[in-house]
Amino acid sequence: MSYISQLMQRKYREKQVVQKASTREGPRKRVSVNVEPHIVTLTQPSSPAAEEYRILRTTLSRLGAKKPLKTVMITSAGAQEGKTLTSVNLAVAMAQGTGQRILLADCDLRRGRVHELLGVEPDEGLGDVLLNGTDLSAALYDTSVENLTVLPCGRYPANPAELLGSQKMNGLIAQLKLQFSLCIFDTPPALALTDAAVLASQADGVILVVQAGKTTCEAVEEAGRVLTQAHANVLGFILVGVEEPGPGYAYRYHRQASKADGRAS
Ligand SMILES: Nc1ncnc2c1ncn2[C@@H]1O[C@H](COP(=O)(O)OP(=O)(O)OP(=O)(O)O)[C@@H](O)[C@H]1O
Ligand SMILES: [Mg+2]
Repeated sequence: MSYISQLMQRKYREKQVVQKASTREGPRKRVSVNVEPHIVTLTQPSSPAAEEYRILRTTLSRLGAKKPLKTVMITSAGAQEGKTLTSVNLAVAMAQGTGQRILLADCDLRRGRVHELLGVEPDEGLGDVLLNGTDLSAALYDTSVENLTVLPCGRYPANPAELLGSQKMNGLIAQLKLQFSLCIFDTPPALALTDAAVLASQADGVILVVQAGKTTCEAVEEAGRVLTQAHANVLGFILVGVEEPGPGYAYRYHRQASKADGRAS
């Protein structure tokens, strides 16, 4: 794990366009809007960073070879460590490369911003489905990325953890699994809040995001403990914010740290 602490943060500057679809009634409507520059899979598809997401896609497919992973949750120990950027870029890479229907669900019901990153301007989302009984189909938004659908966070509820662990959420996930080949859940930090742990047990696999130069080894280990206690299937972690000389790679996927020595294998 000392490897992680040696690594430094990396910044990106890109910009591009994506399309939005509204689904309230009738056919979905697409309009062009801006997508956030950090979504390198769209804004810089030829960059090394985008390539790393495609490698992650392959790794994920390999991990799901025996028993398909239909739901994968992304979390990290603390705040602002790259969960949402990872979720969005991974979802785009999956949709682009597999030809399968991919859903990206914003399960951060406190400060969700998946819709912002993809330039979607939703009227409703997960919070509305769970709170108000909004029909799921009214909360799903197409993007300009073929095969990528977004379920935005929607209205913020007062009791996010309770809702994410509810029977209703369970039923919703079952519905989504029928409609999509893979559902990716973006979540809040695993340590400060119970939301991620509550949802983790309902996902087929969980990936922990670790940011070089920010996330501490202790926090990674503690997050791993919390998720394991919640009966999560922790698949491994993604290291982001790595700077390397030359054609650098900003993203790394590692198998789960060995329990014996705490080092990445
Ligand atoms: N691969 C990366 N390299 C460098 N910095 C990154 C990377 N990914 C994320 N960051 C930094 O972390 C910030 C937060 O990213 P993001 O919103 O994805 O984190 P988050 O973990 O989802 O945050 P929150 O806990 O608020 O939901 C970004 O604005 C960026 O500065
Ligand atoms: Mg986030």
